[in-house]
Amino acid sequence: MELTTRVLHDYPQYMEECADILNEEWPRSKAARLHSLQKSNEKFPVCLVLVNKEKGEELLLGHSKLSIVYGKESCCLIESVCVRKKLRGKGYGRVIMQESEKYATSRGYHTMYLTTHDKQDFYKHLNYTFCEAVISFGADPKLIPEHLIKQLTAATLRPQEKERESSDKQNSIILPPPAKSTQDGPSPKSSTAPPCPPLTHSTAPLAPPNLTVPPPPPPPPQPISQDKTSNQGKPEIVKWDPRHISWMRKDLS
Ligand SMILES: CC(C)(COP(=O)(O)OP(=O)(O)OC[C@H]1O[C@@H](n2cnc3c(N)ncnc32)[C@H](O)[C@@H]1OP(=O)(O)O)[C@@H](O)C(=O)NCCC(=O)NCCS
Repeated sequence: MELTTRVLHDYPQYMEECADILNEEWPRSKAARLHSLQKSNEKFPVCLVLVNKEKGEELLLGHSKLSIVYGKESCCLIESVCVRKKLRGKGYGRVIMQESEKYATSRGYHTMYLTTHDKQDFYKHLNYTFCEAVISFGADPKLIPEHLIKQLTAATLRPQEKERESSDKQNSIILPPPAKSTQDGPSPKSSTAPPCPPLTHSTAPLAPPNLTVPPPPPPPPQPISQDKTSNQGKPEIVKWDPRHISWMRKDLS
């Protein structure tokens, strides 16, 4: 086994497989997913893939994406961290994070930011701590009209109280019925970590939804109902609470 990290835009042959791995976790049209992956470029965002070379064959294990943080030159944002479902719990997530951090450092970044709604414990385990929200446009901010940047920045800095009010007007999202069995590889600590932390868990300032362009990849929200069999195959209507999104950061040096 030989693990290698590749910059996706230098290895376009991995695009399709990478799209499949991401879509397995966060379903989206293949065309939209490929379109997003094809934006990977030297000037950021950069998509990285972890590959295992074994017996002359190469298997894609997972993905991460690094974007620029607006107004903080030495910081970048990591998104869409994903390990192939069947291979979770084997240390590859940690390797992807370490390699992404190494890549960011090699490109001159000293701090990594991220958002998560249910993997706080994983990132805490890798020494990330809760922090303030930052702004990322996914692409080079120079390509975005200044008035739009101002609007988004102002919106992000709006008082937390206002955010609380607006978050009370939660969106309702219809989830597909829960699967009868899951291919999801058991993550070692998943049995002890709640899918979503209690609200008091997050001491970080709140991240308003839809303020990054594009927004962080939205993992499917967790059902509130504990009884997953009660709907008898009907779609389950759950509330998504944006207060569950946590911002975390780590100093890389
Ligand atoms: C989150 C994810 C990337 C973790 O990858 P993984 O390969 O399963 O994790 P690893 O096996 O590398 O775990 C590394 C360490 O983190 C710990 N860990 C893993 N998942 C954890 C969790 N949910 N909570 C707490 N600790 C966790 C492991 O025990 C391990 O600890 P150790 O190295 O001290 O033994 C993977 O589960 C995944 O792709 N999930 C779906 C996509 C997703 O939710 N991505 C995050 C978006 S914010």
